[in-house]
Amino acid sequence: TIELDLTGQHWVITAGPTMEAIDPVRYISNHSSGKMGYALAASAIARGAKVTLISGPVQINAPAGANVIAVKSADDMLAACEQSMSSQADVFIGAAAVADFKMKTATNQKMKKQSDTDEVTLTLVKNPDIIATLAQQKRAKIMVGFAAETQNLIDYAKGKLERKGLDIIIANDVSRADIGFNQDDNQVTVITQDKTWSPDKTTKNALAGQLVECIIEFSLRTSIS
Ligand code: C5P
Repeated sequence: TIELDLTGQHWVITAGPTMEAIDPVRYISNHSSGKMGYALAASAIARGAKVTLISGPVQINAPAGANVIAVKSADDMLAACEQSMSSQADVFIGAAAVADFKMKTATNQKMKKQSDTDEVTLTLVKNPDIIATLAQQKRAKIMVGFAAETQNLIDYAKGKLERKGLDIIIANDVSRADIGFNQDDNQVTVITQDKTWSPDKTTKNALAGQLVECIIEFSLRTSIS
C-alpha cells in the first residue's frame, strides 16, 4: 500500500562485525556475517528509502542502490554514523555486532614474541556504545537495536531498550544453533514499550521485509498519537 512507501526517507543501517586492531597485522573481531543488516537494507531500498549501509568487514555483496560506507573499528563506525546523520535520519537500525572492547593502545609495530615468557597480557578498554550514543543525540527519529541473548530473552532485551534509549529492539536467542550468527534463518521477538511480536522462523531475507513493515507501522502509530 502507498503508506508503506519510504520514498523521501533516509535509513541508516549498521551491519557486520567490527575489527579492532591489536597491532598492524592482528585484530579482535567476531563471527557476524552481516546478512541481517544487508537484508534490512535491501528491504528498505525496495520500498524506496535512501539507505546508508555502514558496514564492518563482511564476505557478502551489498544490495544494489545502497550507499555503503566500509569501516573497521567501532570508533570508525560511530564516526561514520554521526557523519551520515548530520541531519536527522528517519530510521537508524544497529544490526552490527560491535566488539565490546578494543586495545587500550594499539601498537604501530608488530608485537614481537618474547622468548622468555609463555604469557602475554593485552589491556582492553570499552568501545563506545554506538546506538546508545546516537539515540542520546537523537540522530534518527526511530532507533532500532538488536539484542542477542542466550537466556531471559525478553527481560534482557527490554533492559537494553530502556538503557540504550531505543524505540524498538529485535531480540534473538543465540544459544540456538539453527538461527542467528552466520545462519540464513532467523527467529526474533520484536519489542517496543507497549508490544511484543514474534514472527515465525524464516529466512533473514523474508524476516527483513517483515521487520521493515513493523518499523513503518510503529512510525505511523507513534506519529499519529
Ligand atoms: O549491548 P549489546 O551489544 O547486546 O547490544 C546490542 C545492540 O547494540 C545492537 O543493536 C548493536 O548494534 C548495538 N551496539 C552498539 N555499540 C556497541 C555495542 C552494541 O551500537 N558498542
